[in-house]
Amino acid sequence: MRYGHFDDQNREYVIETPETPLPWINYLGSESYFGLISNTAGGYSFYKDARLRRLTRYRYNNAPLDTGGRYIYLRDNDPNSARSWSPTWMPTRTPLDFYECRHGMGYTSIRSRLAGIESQTRYFVPLGENLEIWELTLTNQRDQPASLSVFSAIEFNLWDAMDDATNFQRNYSIGQVEVVDGVIYHKTEYRERRDHFAYFACSEKLAGFDTQRDDFLGSYRGWDSPKVVESGQSADSITHGWQPIGSHHVKVQLKAGEQKKIIFILGYHENSKDDKFDPPESQTINKRTVLPVISKYLLADQVEKAFEALRVHWLGLLDKYQVVTPDEHTNRMVNIWNAYQTMITFNMSRSASYFESGIGRGMGFRDSTQDLLGFVHLIPERARERILDLAATQLETGGAYHQYQPLTKRGNNDVGSGFNDDPLWLVLAVTAYVKETGDWSILNEQVPYDNKPGSEEALHGHLQRSIQYTLDRLGPHGLPLIGRADWNDCLNLNCFSDTPGQSFQTTTNKEGKVAESVFIAGLFVLAAKEMAGLCEKLEGKGEKQDHNFSLLTSHFYLEKAAKMESTIWQHGWDGDWFRRAYDDFSHVLGSKENDEGKIFIEPQGICVMAGLGVEDGRAQKAMNSVAEHLATPHGIVLQQPAFSKYYLHLGEISSYPPGYKENAGIFCHTNPWIMVSEAKLGNGDKAHDYYSRINPSAREEISDLHRCEPYIYAQMIAGKDAATHGEAKNSWLTGTAAWNYVAISQWILGVRPTYDGLQVAPVVPSAWKNFEVTRSYRGVRYVIQIERKGMGNEVQLEVDGKSINGNIIPLPVENKKEVHVRVTIN
Ligand code: GLC
Ligand code: GLC
Repeated sequence: MRYGHFDDQNREYVIETPETPLPWINYLGSESYFGLISNTAGGYSFYKDARLRRLTRYRYNNAPLDTGGRYIYLRDNDPNSARSWSPTWMPTRTPLDFYECRHGMGYTSIRSRLAGIESQTRYFVPLGENLEIWELTLTNQRDQPASLSVFSAIEFNLWDAMDDATNFQRNYSIGQVEVVDGVIYHKTEYRERRDHFAYFACSEKLAGFDTQRDDFLGSYRGWDSPKVVESGQSADSITHGWQPIGSHHVKVQLKAGEQKKIIFILGYHENSKDDKFDPPESQTINKRTVLPVISKYLLADQVEKAFEALRVHWLGLLDKYQVVTPDEHTNRMVNIWNAYQTMITFNMSRSASYFESGIGRGMGFRDSTQDLLGFVHLIPERARERILDLAATQLETGGAYHQYQPLTKRGNNDVGSGFNDDPLWLVLAVTAYVKETGDWSILNEQVPYDNKPGSEEALHGHLQRSIQYTLDRLGPHGLPLIGRADWNDCLNLNCFSDTPGQSFQTTTNKEGKVAESVFIAGLFVLAAKEMAGLCEKLEGKGEKQDHNFSLLTSHFYLEKAAKMESTIWQHGWDGDWFRRAYDDFSHVLGSKENDEGKIFIEPQGICVMAGLGVEDGRAQKAMNSVAEHLATPHGIVLQQPAFSKYYLHLGEISSYPPGYKENAGIFCHTNPWIMVSEAKLGNGDKAHDYYSRINPSAREEISDLHRCEPYIYAQMIAGKDAATHGEAKNSWLTGTAAWNYVAISQWILGVRPTYDGLQVAPVVPSAWKNFEVTRSYRGVRYVIQIERKGMGNEVQLEVDGKSINGNIIPLPVENKKEVHVRVTIN
């Protein structure tokens, strides 16, 4: 069953009931100020870093699940019709006569009606601003005047979300606010080392306000029944310690049919250190710098302009790749939601969702490098900056910190270290960037290691070290040592953890001179071939070359790739599929010899993507094995048979009950690797079939089973060994977004950037007779019309009326802004 519907025209998902199986959320903000918002206005906001600069509180894993948000209460003050309710349904859960939530590109709008009072609240963050707007429109649809009270409510977080949730002996004493001219300023710790504060403002004259939670709610009440809302009277409380909140009270008289807009803004502001108080000797916030921003966005026409700018911004971004195919689920994911999700994963990495607390993880090295693959065409300048930030956290050994905090941009080992696949992903990110943009200058950028001044080297040198890192760490079979784990965080072959609660990610490991990963071997071949391609281009530049680094030849990388390939054939091929690893006892994993974990998805995908066995039928054999052993109607599971018990020598993978997460769940990130592989083998029907099995839009009709949002990918769908096979979890922040985007846009639809121009090599379902792709690339708009004439995958291209050799559209002459391409598939 469905809980809503897609409105493709408006690029929105429309939720028709507040009681979705799980909170279905959206994200606000695009660069520094961010928020998460559910379909019932739950969620929270932060500046840059969900852990270190949290603006509002949220209570994870609560009952009900979605507790804490951007709440508005309405109260009918007429004694004859007196009642109060939440126009977003939560937190009062008063039954509404009508409810609708529209999640769109960077905004969420919730509309409802009760007893003839309609309310619509549009939430968004204006481009370039560190604030969010709640624009409330009230309409009196009664034939009588209405006398209403509106209460806003948020709970401030004391900045460090971890500390805020744990350190009460201090925190109950430090909360401070100021309330001036109806604006509530949250300034905890501003008196000492913080130069930033939050503010919560309202466009209307206030009938009252509150800043102390207990005074607003009442000591023994929850957000579902605040005392102040019940009585209709704010306490005008000023908090001293305890729990600072922000609540405005506005009284509204509406004639029959009358409409009124009320604007709230919640924002973050920084002052310069030496000008933070006004007067300078006081402890009062200097508000001169923030007041112009506040007064600007309290004006309805400015809000409208800002919303329009956001809309146009997203139209422009999405316009970079648009497609019209016979499949509506493909169209809507490519044109709208998958592109949108790649932006969200680019911004958030794995830090803040309804499954990631924002406290646990910062920006992951391997996560962010892969996220770039799906994002780079949207805003290449931001991809460039991200690449340089990530590379600056790389270690001199070529290895990488597993993550960094976005606020400080410094790498750390908080979530573990020594994942031996990490650095190789950097190669894929950088080459994808150069293919997209033609910006070779990035390779010259001087980037430090571990952010240490004096250690700078050209980015190209970082890539060399990434490759060398693997070569320096080969095991007994000549395969790469796995380290703490490879892409599969839970394959912990050096961990041997038998202590309850110990973290598989951070606990001290064995030295790890034995356990090897076939996955890293495949990834190495892929990355080394990419390096070879890059160097070949650099060599080709000959005289014209203007790089400031010494170049290893493409030959060098091809040789290393070939050597690794032959090692894989020797020790990593099981006869019908690729093996997964060798453990600390040098026993094989992912082989017919194993009782459990006989076949894993990751090496099949990565090795075939790297080109292994594509020519000689072995890749096809591996794909057949995937279809036979791993594929289910809900997607492809990670491995089979699932581990039925905990294996000390395998680690976290066997800690999960069978069918969940890495233990044979459908770990969606890996599925597009199989789609790409099938496309490489020319199997368009198969590739698109796999694509559709996990396509959230195609799963909309089974939302009661799937349970997560039908407009974005989730990390995992429970596998066939699980009681809840088909149920999704961990929505939004997953490499699934980028990789599916790559699989469908570059490999199935087949329009992909190369160093020399756009390549067109579709491998689509045989039933597709026609489709069209519009792609912006290096400032040129390519309108590509594709028609199937035969049943194969051979293409013939006609570029602006002239047929060309090969399938790469040559870069157009300067000043040409649009190119028309006709493609026939034979
Ligand atoms: C999570 C991690 C990712 C890892 C994957 C498989 O999604 O963010 O880095 O590769 O799990 O374990
Ligand atoms: C757990 C998860 C895995 C994730 C890791 C991140 O191991 O199973 O998916 O990548 O935590 O730290």
